[in-house]
Amino acid sequence: MKFVLASQNRHKLEEMQSILSAHGVQVALEADLGLQVDVEETGETFAENAMLKAKAVMEASGLPAIADDSGVCVDALNGAPGVYSARYGGPELDDAARYRLLLNNMRGARTRAAHFTSAIACVFPNGDTIEAEGICPGTIAFAPQGTGGFGYDPVFFLPELRKTYAQLTPEEKAAVSHRGKALAVFEGKLKDYLNRG
Ligand code: IMP
Repeated sequence: MKFVLASQNRHKLEEMQSILSAHGVQVALEADLGLQVDVEETGETFAENAMLKAKAVMEASGLPAIADDSGVCVDALNGAPGVYSARYGGPELDDAARYRLLLNNMRGARTRAAHFTSAIACVFPNGDTIEAEGICPGTIAFAPQGTGGFGYDPVFFLPELRKTYAQLTPEEKAAVSHRGKALAVFEGKLKDYLNRG
């Protein structure tokens, strides 16, 4: 069964494909199908944005579409960057400039508590939908550490592991991450859906 991932992000594809291939599900990026669907992320929640993206890409491709909307919510910043994580500081910033801006904005913060959320939505051509969500609590490090992953990984610190996301192997990250947890929930729901009568 072929699904399309409503994203241009190859890191997300890799994190999803490794889990979903166990169910005979093949995932392709929009770009791999010659598609680039621009979706305005106008939702107020990760779940709303994931559903908007998945619906638009299902309609454009005619294939079951999966979307992940994710981001980091920082307590001392009242939940920012949240759903604006990808756009924090403006479109001209790259990943490193975005996490540096986050570190600057946290100078003198009374708490460094934060969590990542991943909302996954899947829309089938017949209109059926599956939704799942995962959360990973952590803290914002004082300085970047590690070279793995993407986005805010070098500054998202897991106190129990004493490492940032960027210091974990892909397998270690998947075992604890927001996306790994959301995918585990999604995997269960997808299995039920594919096996139903
Ligand atoms: P989205 O593509 O709209 O879901 O944007 C999510 C943004 O949140 C990404 O561009 C990253 O900046 C950040 N993000 C989401 N998941 C992760 C992750 O696993 N590690 C680091 N940053 C992430």
